[in-house]
Amino acid sequence: MAETGQRQAQIGVTGLAVMGSNIARNLARHGHTVALHNRSIAKTDALLAEHGSEGDFIRTETTAEFVAALERPRRVLMMVKAGDATDAVIDELADLMEPGDIIIDGGNSLYTDTIRREAAMAARGLNFIGAGISGGEEGALNGPSIMPGGPAESYESVGPLLESISAHVDGVPCCTHIGPDGSGHFVKMVHNGIEYADMQLIGEAYDLMRGVLGMDVAEIADVFREWNTGDLDSYLVEITADVLSAVDATTGRPLVDVIVDEAGQKGTGRWTVKSALDLGVPTTGIAEAVFARALSSAPDQRREARGLHSGADRSAAPADRAAFIEDIRQALYASKVIAYSQGFDQIAAGSEEHGWNVHPGDLATIWRGGCIIRAKFLDRIRDAYAENPELPALLLAPYFRDAVETAVGSWRRVVMTATATGVPVPAFASSLSYYDALRADRLPAALTQGLRDYFGAHTYRRIDKPGSFHTLWSGDRSEVEA
Ligand code: 6PG
Repeated sequence: MAETGQRQAQIGVTGLAVMGSNIARNLARHGHTVALHNRSIAKTDALLAEHGSEGDFIRTETTAEFVAALERPRRVLMMVKAGDATDAVIDELADLMEPGDIIIDGGNSLYTDTIRREAAMAARGLNFIGAGISGGEEGALNGPSIMPGGPAESYESVGPLLESISAHVDGVPCCTHIGPDGSGHFVKMVHNGIEYADMQLIGEAYDLMRGVLGMDVAEIADVFREWNTGDLDSYLVEITADVLSAVDATTGRPLVDVIVDEAGQKGTGRWTVKSALDLGVPTTGIAEAVFARALSSAPDQRREARGLHSGADRSAAPADRAAFIEDIRQALYASKVIAYSQGFDQIAAGSEEHGWNVHPGDLATIWRGGCIIRAKFLDRIRDAYAENPELPALLLAPYFRDAVETAVGSWRRVVMTATATGVPVPAFASSLSYYDALRADRLPAALTQGLRDYFGAHTYRRIDKPGSFHTLWSGDRSEVEA
């Protein structure tokens, strides 16, 4: 039997793996009474044995007991694996809940699943919130960034609870209502995509210092530590210095040298790129990061290709090490601006497509703390959208425009040197090409249109008059209005 007595919990957490346990503890530490539930009771008991004194928990065994232990409207936070497991738990809960009750999915669910689930729950009178939660295990316990999407009226009931456990920056919670149905999981997906791009850019910067400048790992760790005191100040740069400083206890070598160089992925980066393709948004930085992970994880091909001639020119390595490190720093910053600018473009396009009315400035605000991509730089993004909420692109905000224009010389030197010396920099290089394409007066897209018209009579528009036109390519090559 459950030991619920007459006590009622303000919120229940089901799914008590590390993230779920830590969120439950965080809620309890903030004075909320938390009902606990897990498919296997052993996890619930382990949590209570180790951390039961941290706050007011209610132990439950069955889903029915769990639901019965909640005050109304009932609020359940699900921390279960995305996909089928999430659907199974929602079905079980929904059968026991009543109109007005609220289910919050705190997993990394695909936003289209969230749209479907929200509609299905709304049809039953239940409120469904898809909440992106970022910050890993540590964030879950001490303050994550939370991106809840769903009915606005249900946010009134769960918002204060979620805001209380989120990270805070300058007293402002890193949690706000994002918009309806799948919007919270959509922005979390793009957040993760940006996380992929950030990590890829950091990896390229590291690889350049090693491959071009021949620096050892400890020296590179120091560079990242130094960078973390300036414009690049961010969680990922900070932990890069930590990871690069770690020494393997068995071999005495830098840990990074004994880790297999095949990057894994659970799917959110790939989802971001698929969505970008569907929306027609060139999220190139994130795409390069996803493809770089895929390439790294093709060991058979890589083994066979290892002997290919590089044509690399070692003499292209710059003599002035400090100057080149500064070039890399600038290139990293500029490429990062591009990645965020593209990510925000994708969020704007998704918001438009689904009628979500997502405010980019809100995202910059709640990503300043708690989440994996938290960075000093987010303050600048917040300022940029505060100054002009209708910014056509983040890159075009005066601050970022100036920063990138200042960096562009360094950026070109880095990409040229990388190319000459054979160090792969897919994200640095494609971000620079994106920048060059975006600022170009004319693009070769005109030629693409001519070719499409030639082989498929797809027509083109002219710069000097309205309408669509077709050239009679296999006839007398005169032009006709289409
Ligand atoms: C976060 C992280 C978290 C996780 C992702 C990425 O915001 O706390 O993004 O959600 O690390 O699942 O994982 P992969 O790199 O395995 O795709």
